[in-house]
Amino acid sequence: MRQQLKDFIEAIGKDAVAIIPAAHEVTRSYDTEFKFHQDPDFFYLTGFPEPDAIAVITPANKRNPFTLFVRPRDPLMETWYGRREGTEGAMKNYAASKALPIEKFATELPKLLNGNEKLYYRFGVDNKLDQQILQYLSAQRFRRLKTPYPPHTIVDPTILIHEMRLHKTEAEVELMQKSADIAAEAHVLAMKSARPGMNESSIEAIIEHHFRMNGAAGVSYNSIVGGGANATILHYVENNAELKDGDLLLIDAGAHYQGYASDITRTFPVNGKFTKAQREVYDIVLETEIACVEFTRKGNTIKQRQDLSIEMLTEGLKKLGILHGDTQDLIKNKKYEKYYMHGVGHYLGLDVHDAGRYFTDAAAKNSRPFAPGMVLTVEPGLYIPPDDADAPEQYRGIGIRIEDDVLVTEDGNVNLTINCPKQAEEIEEIMAKTS
Ligand code: GLY
Ligand code: MN
Ligand code: MN
Repeated sequence: MRQQLKDFIEAIGKDAVAIIPAAHEVTRSYDTEFKFHQDPDFFYLTGFPEPDAIAVITPANKRNPFTLFVRPRDPLMETWYGRREGTEGAMKNYAASKALPIEKFATELPKLLNGNEKLYYRFGVDNKLDQQILQYLSAQRFRRLKTPYPPHTIVDPTILIHEMRLHKTEAEVELMQKSADIAAEAHVLAMKSARPGMNESSIEAIIEHHFRMNGAAGVSYNSIVGGGANATILHYVENNAELKDGDLLLIDAGAHYQGYASDITRTFPVNGKFTKAQREVYDIVLETEIACVEFTRKGNTIKQRQDLSIEMLTEGLKKLGILHGDTQDLIKNKKYEKYYMHGVGHYLGLDVHDAGRYFTDAAAKNSRPFAPGMVLTVEPGLYIPPDDADAPEQYRGIGIRIEDDVLVTEDGNVNLTINCPKQAEEIEEIMAKTS
């Protein structure tokens, strides 16, 4: 059994039962589906990769604390749609103490629920399962309390699972490092390959080819490959424009490796040489990024890091002659927001925007301090709109973001994406060697 599942069993306690469903396939059109993506919470606890499964965790049942309901083996279905683990595989390869065909879930439900005080289940995700559980709970009311009764307290299990996911184990960090390495190499390949006249789509293909060739399942989010002013569109994913001599290219792309995401952004000149104006903006973003990486350490808060990025970028915008006046006034009036409108980073793990709370209180008043085992991105950027009358002409249409993935440790941090060059000279050198 996975350590994470052991910890979860320990955490929910003996008077509880947890029901954790897998994801379902999603129809793309008629009888074809989107590439399957397992539910990260289910994957975290079980490692089971197939759709339409349900894990039921019953800590009080010493011999059988982990029941997995799965799609049964079926030669015809497997010929059409792929291999299945079946109940045997669920027990042998995924440490289920008991495995049953998914069709049995409804009839087993009363037995699994009854006699427990608490049910850990997240309503509002899987509508069909919600209905099954609600129907049983409501039918049970007619019986009053004369027979063993189902849980009275319902708790969202993500409260626990997401806290666990937030603090990565050594084994998880190893997978995240591998995911980061694959992505870092892909970004270097992109730098080596970019030329004026190429299409953004070719660069996207080069990156994603590298992911697949190196064991990644694919991307951890849709790659952003934006040349010129396309870099000022935060979630630009069309990736189909020609790359122009003299423009910058912003690439935000990460791999999905054994479930774990990496998330890297690099911005570099299409022709291999930054212009003076591009370099001025670049160095402001880079300096901010390096300072925020350094700041990502135990005890400092997420809000403090955001404030640091805002202050440094506001100072930078003043230096460029885009903003004018007192820095604190500019910050108070959010004048930077036209050019820097997103957060400086987020948790990273099984999801690219990973699980975990950003505040220590439900009212979201107190920003959370960084703690060892957390992995966060650092991704400041500046995006000067192409038609911005407030900006000197040479800066208009420049979009720059630099993004690394950082593990917080006991005495500092580890930059998992350190192997992806980001100093302007380093990038120019790599690009010069190949042009
Ligand atoms: N690529 C998504 C992000 O950087 O958050
Ligand atoms: Mn990103
Ligand atoms: Mn990111």
